[in-house]
Order: sequence, then structure tokens, then C-alpha cells
Amino acid sequence: MKVLLTGSTGYIGRRLKQQLLKNSIIDLRLFVRNKNSISSEVLQKVEVFEGDTFDTRSLEKALSGVDVAYYLIHSLNRDNYKELDKKSAQNFVDIASQCGVKKIIYLGGLGVKDEYTSEHLLSRLETGEILSSNSNLQTIWIRAGVIIGSGSASFEIIRNLAEKLPVMLTPKWVETKAQPIAVEDVIQYLESSLFLEQKKNLIVDIGTEQLSYRQMMLKTASALGLQRYIIKVPFMSITVSSYWLNLFTPVPFSVAKALIEGLKSEVVKQNDNAKIYFPHIKPISYEEAVKKATQEIKENQVISRWNDNSGEIWDRDHKKQINDAVFVDRKEGNISGIEASKVYNSFISIGGENGWFDFDFLWEIRGIVDKMLGGVGLKRGRRSQCDLRTGDCLDFWKVIDIQKEKRLLLYAQMKLPGEGWLEFKIENDKLIQSAYFYPRGVWGRIYWYTLVPLHYFVFTNMLHNIIKKSKKV
Ligand SMILES: NC(=O)c1ccc[n+]([C@@H]2O[C@H](COP(=O)([O-])OP(=O)(O)OC[C@H]3O[C@@H](n4cnc5c(N)ncnc54)[C@H](OP(=O)(O)O)[C@@H]3O)[C@@H](O)[C@H]2O)c1
Repeated sequence: MKVLLTGSTGYIGRRLKQQLLKNSIIDLRLFVRNKNSISSEVLQKVEVFEGDTFDTRSLEKALSGVDVAYYLIHSLNRDNYKELDKKSAQNFVDIASQCGVKKIIYLGGLGVKDEYTSEHLLSRLETGEILSSNSNLQTIWIRAGVIIGSGSASFEIIRNLAEKLPVMLTPKWVETKAQPIAVEDVIQYLESSLFLEQKKNLIVDIGTEQLSYRQMMLKTASALGLQRYIIKVPFMSITVSSYWLNLFTPVPFSVAKALIEGLKSEVVKQNDNAKIYFPHIKPISYEEAVKKATQEIKENQVISRWNDNSGEIWDRDHKKQINDAVFVDRKEGNISGIEASKVYNSFISIGGENGWFDFDFLWEIRGIVDKMLGGVGLKRGRRSQCDLRTGDCLDFWKVIDIQKEKRLLLYAQMKLPGEGWLEFKIENDKLIQSAYFYPRGVWGRIYWYTLVPLHYFVFTNMLHNIIKKSKKV
């Protein structure tokens, strides 16, 4: 069975890819926006087609000869995502039909269209309607609400609130009902949909028990062994709640706001098709899902995170912009006599719980300033404290390029009056560490010059301590 997986660099797609690779009857093909985001190990096992759903020629190539195609795409990071999502889904279903694809499997959001439906959910519902509108092929539309798994945005919010706040003042939306589901169960439904004999279009709502957000927070706290108190207050607007989430959880303001807007209406199942068509899948309880997710985090076994997707980072020509950078802070260190692997392991351990090789308090302050400006701050940390891959978030950076024993390139995702990169490169007997900055207007220049004295200490000690650590490991 030739299967095309789109969105394989995203939260759900990465996990589904791992699952499908285990199934020997599946001949897997990936459709990605940038081939660099796929590890060399995966590249050896699957066909990879580079493209974009707005580029119909690339879709034609990727969909030809395919039996079943997964659609795990959205454009939420863009301002005009509603229009983009419609266009993307229409292109996909039209070309899939032309190419003779038999089935599309789509994962969308749970909920109904009413006056309280958020813009985000509406867009997901419209995508499902478009994908189901072509009679030449079957569409299985799985609908999930809150997904509980290590690295999922909803779970990270609930976990961070439960861990950090012994007493929570919450708005009335905490009583809204949802029907959460473990990410492992979502993956099972998606995989099982491949083999469903049924030939007509289907909408399959999935989830375990109905719980309010208050119950989810208290159950999460109890799974973590914590006693928490929730006090409802009448005065918290969506904007205030979003700032609250922005400050206490890893999600930036924009994501927090989109999620809170979605909490105005209930997200519960509207049909029983999960039981009817997939009786063999028995979703695990909320508590079990929380324990599993927490365990994965503890064991550094997080497969994917909500911020894995690359969004707009590939729209930039990083190579050219780095070459054209106005300001460069370049430092070199002698590494003769030290194995390249040790130097590499040392610099790729940067960030997250491992710290920044000195002056961690300055990085913390920068993270707090970023959060106050509505940015991502430092709370995203690292997916794993020992492993790093292209596309990973690392505090307020994103991994753009990682070449074993050669190079690590990070792109700055904090709020900045310009664009910045941090690079570590091994060349012969030297470790070269460079911070590049492309300022936006006069503020960008003032920003850089103000930080020059701090950069001197931070970057000098960083290089020194990376080399020192590589001598020890
Ligand atoms: N995550 C959840 O908690 C959750 C809950 C309920 C439903 N869902 C549904 O599950 C689906 C997948 O969500 P997700 O959380 O996995 O998303 P995600 O992490 O944001 O990933 C989105 C994926 O789409 C790709 N993509 C975006 N625009 C594209 C385009 N024009 N052409 C080709 N690829 C494109 C991205 O590639 P790049 O890496 O290049 O950006 C990325 O791989 C969505 O339909 C969502 O509504 C998710």
C-alpha cells in the first residue's frame, strides 16, 4: 500500500511516521516543505517529496501512484490562515482525485459550528468539509479535542499550570467540558483508518471521558502528586487569561489566545463512530495518559512537540542572510588534541536544563523580557537534554542546521528588532562560534550596540566553557 504522509514534521505527523515505519505492508512516502528537516536515518527508509500544498506541481508529483494520503496540515502560524487552509485543502483533494488516490485521512478538531466556535476550529471544520467534498475518493475525518501527550500544547499548558501554581484564579471557562484523548490513541485511530473496509465518507469523533478543564487540571496535579486549589473569578477576560498562560507556560501569547478562544464552547463527541468502526481501540483514561506523558518527559523520550513544525523559518534564505549580516560576533577556540565528537557533543548540549555555559541568569532575564513582550521565552527548553535534530526548539532558538561533528546553526525566535543566528562550527583544529545579527532599522542597531559589553562576557565564556566541557566528556 503506497501511503503519502503530509505534516510529517509536525506534532502528530512525527509520531504517525514512526508508527507507519513499523508496518511492513506500508510503502511510505513523505511530503515535506524542506528535506533538511528529515533525518538521514529516515531518508534511507522512505521516499521524500519536497513541496508545498500551494504548489500544485509538487502535489501532483507527490500524489501520483498513491493509494492513501494523510492530510495533517494547517497554516495556523500565518495571519490569513483561514483562506490559506481552504486553498491548501482544495488543492490537495482536487489533485488527489486526479491522481486516483482512493482515500484521504484527515485529523481535525472536535466541536460543532455555533456562535461560540473559535476561528481556529471553524477553519479546521471547513478543511474537513472541503476534503470530504469529492465523490471520487473516500475521506475519513477523525476529530480530536484536547490531545494528551508529552509535548502537546494543551498538555504542556495544563501541566505547567498544575506544577507551578498551588492556587489558581481561573475564569469561568474552566467549567467547559472537553473529551481529551491520549496521543497514542490518536495515532492508533489514524493508522487503523488505513485498513477500514468501509467505502463511504466517515466522520469519527474520538475521546475518552468528558471532563471540564478544572477537572483536568486537578487530575493532572494529583497524577503529579500535588494538591492544588482552583478559585473561579468573574473578571478574567480572554486577553488577561492569555497573558497569564503566556507567563506561566511555554506557549507564546498568540497560541495561548487561540487556545483560550476555543474554550468558550464544549468540545465533546457528536457521534459514536469510534466505537462502531474501531471497536478494537480502547482509549486509555485521562490519568493514564498524563502518567505516560510525564514519564516520557522524565526519560527524555519525547517524540514530538507542539512547536516542532518549521512554520515560516524555511521561507528565509538563512545562508544568504548570514552572509549579509550587518553585525557578527565571531570567536575562535583551539581544539587541537580533542576529538571532534567530544567538541560536537559539548556544543549540542547547549540550552534547556543544561544551561548556557555561564551567565545563565542573563539568559533567564532575557527569557522573562521576551515573555513580557509576548514571545516564547525560555520555557520551551529542549525536547531532549541529550539529543538535538533539525526543527527542534531550544529555549527561544530553533535548530536550522545540524551536521554531525561539524556544525550547529540556531535561529533566534525571541522578540528582536531584527534577526539573529548563533553558529558553532568545527574547522580543522578550531571551534568557531559566531553570533550574526541583521538589524531592523535604527532600533536594531541600538539593540546590538547596547548589548555589545554583555555579549563580550557571555560569548567569550560560552566558547571557553564549551571547550572545557569537551575535554571532560
Ligand atoms: N496537536 C494537537 O493537539 C491537535 C489536536 C486536535 C487536532 N489536531 C489536528 O491534527 C493536524 C496536525 O496538527 P499538528 O499539531 O501535528 O500540527 P503542527 O505540529 O503544527 O504541524 C503542521 C505540519 O503541517 C506542515 N505544513 C504546514 N503548511 C504546509 C503546506 N502548505 N504544505 C506542506 N506542509 C505544510 C508543517 O510543515 P513545516 O514543518 O514545514 O512547517 C508541519 O509538518 C491538524 O489538522 C490539527 O488540527 C491537532
